[in-house]
Amino acid sequence: MNTPEFPPATAEPPLKAPLVLGVESSCDETGVALVTLDPVTGVPKLLGQALHTQVAMHAAYGGVVPELASRDHIRRVVPLLRQTLAEARLELSAVDAIAYTAGPGLAGALLVGSAFAEALAFALDKPVIPVHHLEGHLLSPLLTVDPPQFPFVALLVSGGHTQLMCVTGVGHYELLGETLDDAAGEAFDKSAKLLGLGYPGGPALAALAETADPSLVAEIKLPRPMLHSGDLEFSFAGLKTAVLTKVKAAEAAGGLSGTGRAALAAAVQEAIAAVLVAKCLQALKQTGLSRLVVAGGVGANRYLRASLISACQRRKCEVYFPDPSLCTDNGAMIALAGLLRLTSGTLSKTAGGFSVKPRWPLMEA
Ligand code: KG4
Ligand code: ZN
Repeated sequence: MNTPEFPPATAEPPLKAPLVLGVESSCDETGVALVTLDPVTGVPKLLGQALHTQVAMHAAYGGVVPELASRDHIRRVVPLLRQTLAEARLELSAVDAIAYTAGPGLAGALLVGSAFAEALAFALDKPVIPVHHLEGHLLSPLLTVDPPQFPFVALLVSGGHTQLMCVTGVGHYELLGETLDDAAGEAFDKSAKLLGLGYPGGPALAALAETADPSLVAEIKLPRPMLHSGDLEFSFAGLKTAVLTKVKAAEAAGGLSGTGRAALAAAVQEAIAAVLVAKCLQALKQTGLSRLVVAGGVGANRYLRASLISACQRRKCEVYFPDPSLCTDNGAMIALAGLLRLTSGTLSKTAGGFSVKPRWPLMEA
């Protein structure tokens, strides 16, 4: 199907703001949502959303099983669409465009969302908007009553990515730095696994860390990788190795106690947050910008949020987060990215059709 032409961006919201349906299926969450622009303020507005997480299904395997993920997306997507329409009190015919995650992600899982969106768009004779998953995360903090203005520095911290970007507008993203190996989310997940916590590890590690005795945490020395590297690159693989060494040492000495495990969890969280905060401040300094936007699953971490808020207060910078429920994968961020691409006249020319892009650099979107 050809990508239709859309009007260029205008400062004023259009008379009838488009209603965009978003579909997310890149990994282990099926998300569907309806987003539009407030006709008075022009601010994005979430009208309804439904989400199904496959966490319980994959937990038995200790991680995501791609084939099971794809099959579950197929099962869930239509009921979730019905639920979203019911919540928004809207008919399917009211939808103006359908956005879906075209990549990056698991190929089979992405194909479910793409086939669903393309088929629906064909049936309704409406345009389809392929969306980059990370762009969805990146723009998700705009889905609030008081969204940040462009330009801003964005910290993208998900399970697969850790990136700092300079964002000057929708579709205008400059990569400032990224991880050379593990992502911050992976560092959480792998450390959690070493501590005997289940999948997904990040939230479990964070919950355990909150119970830790600060005096025990202070005694644990973990590396803060690349803290003083002078650039905006990250590296978290060494942290996991340091945690493994601590766990093995504790096992050799009779096993890790409950308080010891909680302290180690808090030390991991502190080490990851310290590096992320330092690099964010450096990125703000380097770009001369005073607004920071944090997005992605790790952005839900309360310790990281508090650390960033106090660091930015000290530097007289503003920091914006999505609602914690919108940090991890969801349909709302995809609907929003689609809506903003549509209304700013910057639709991606590199994706679409029934093909998906399991690997897709954001700068090419
Ligand atoms: O953005 P996301 O939902 O999926 C990807 O696109 O990767 O991020 C998932 C990542 C996982 O590594 C998960 O453990 C981590 O975000 N995560 C957290 C928390 N909630 C999710 N990490 C630390 N603390 C949390 N509260
Ligand atoms: Zn994600």
